[in-house]
Amino acid sequence: MRVGIDAIAIAVPHRYIALEDLARARGVDPAKYTHGLGGLEMAVAEPGEDTVALAAQAARRVLTGYDPQKLGLLVVGTETGVDHSKPVSSFVQGLLDLPQTLRVYDTQHACYGGTAALMAALDWIASGAADGRSALVICSDIARYGLHTPGEPTQGAGAVAMIISRDPDVLSIDVGISGTASIHVHDFWRPLGQREAQVDGHYSVQCYLDALGVAFAGWKQRASLRGIDSLARVCYHVPFCKMAKKAHAHLFGDVDYDAGAALHLNARIGNIYTGSLYLSLASLLSAQAAELVGSRIGMFSYGSGCTSEFFSGVVGPRAVERTADLADVLAHRERISVGEYERIMALTEPLPRNGGEVRFTGVVDQRRQYASS
Ligand code: COA
Repeated sequence: MRVGIDAIAIAVPHRYIALEDLARARGVDPAKYTHGLGGLEMAVAEPGEDTVALAAQAARRVLTGYDPQKLGLLVVGTETGVDHSKPVSSFVQGLLDLPQTLRVYDTQHACYGGTAALMAALDWIASGAADGRSALVICSDIARYGLHTPGEPTQGAGAVAMIISRDPDVLSIDVGISGTASIHVHDFWRPLGQREAQVDGHYSVQCYLDALGVAFAGWKQRASLRGIDSLARVCYHVPFCKMAKKAHAHLFGDVDYDAGAALHLNARIGNIYTGSLYLSLASLLSAQAAELVGSRIGMFSYGSGCTSEFFSGVVGPRAVERTADLADVLAHRERISVGEYERIMALTEPLPRNGGEVRFTGVVDQRRQYASS
């Protein structure tokens, strides 16, 4: 049975800053951020654009023209949920008025949470438990390290929503040949009650590369038993764009990673944690789907802490039309100053209006409220 990604959509905050501006404000050579880390711009979410609002917007887009009655599962991968108990997926189900017959839950393991959701959906369909139904998988996060930290230029926010089904149009996943690697490390974590992540940055880069080596070896061994021995492209988890180049060099000794295609959205949105790998896939396909139809793509997902997975898939026959407008997500954003960014980062209450289709409006009677237009 062929199973994989049938449709993909993205949602990002309304505002962004240029990393050049941030570098100047911090007294840093802009080339460190633009070449050393590889970014150009960074999405800035105000409190109204929370993880739920971004997830719901991305889901609404991916479901446009799709009959929700065909869904049987909704899973959100996130590491920046809004409640210790009630999952983001539950809010999304309500906001989009999705069927009450759905199985609904969140998955968490740092930036791997979205891949955990994807794998659960693939297994559910491949096992036959789906009984012909499809799954809605959403990766949604607000990446925050705080002002004046080394991680500051590697923040961002956004959501990627995907419909997972049989006979997928975008990417047919090679089920059963993933390689995985996990080890208990403190490279990145976020204690309860803190909005900003703690990170041992350089150590996290090393943990990522170590996990990549083990996961890739596992994939390669299983892939070779099926006669699969080459990949046309590889997409990586992208906490910052240079990381994907380091990863590619680590595996292939080839420092000439085709960054333009696989990273152009990441470079302008920043880190979106769980969705970063899928944002890279969206970048790649929005730029090169036509030449990649029928080609096999490698995918590496890494979640600090850590766990990771290397898997692969073949680009589907309708990937071109399904991914052509993904880059439009950048069209209606507003560039703000570093001063405005700093003001927004300090806010705890949502701005009155933010232009988003779905927005968090505040807490009433200890219940989070959302408006949808
Ligand atoms: N021009 C061009 N490049 C420059 C530069 C300049 N003026 N100054 C520095 N650089 C380069 C460095 O050589 C380095 O590149 P390299 O890694 O290829 O050698 C890069 O810019 C970053 O410089 P560095 O001094 O290592 O930055 P840093 O110590 O301030 O922090 C991170 C970098 C990634 C550790 C930090 O941003 C962070 O903690 N990010 C969050 C954690 C994360 O994303 N982890 C990834 C795994 S999940």
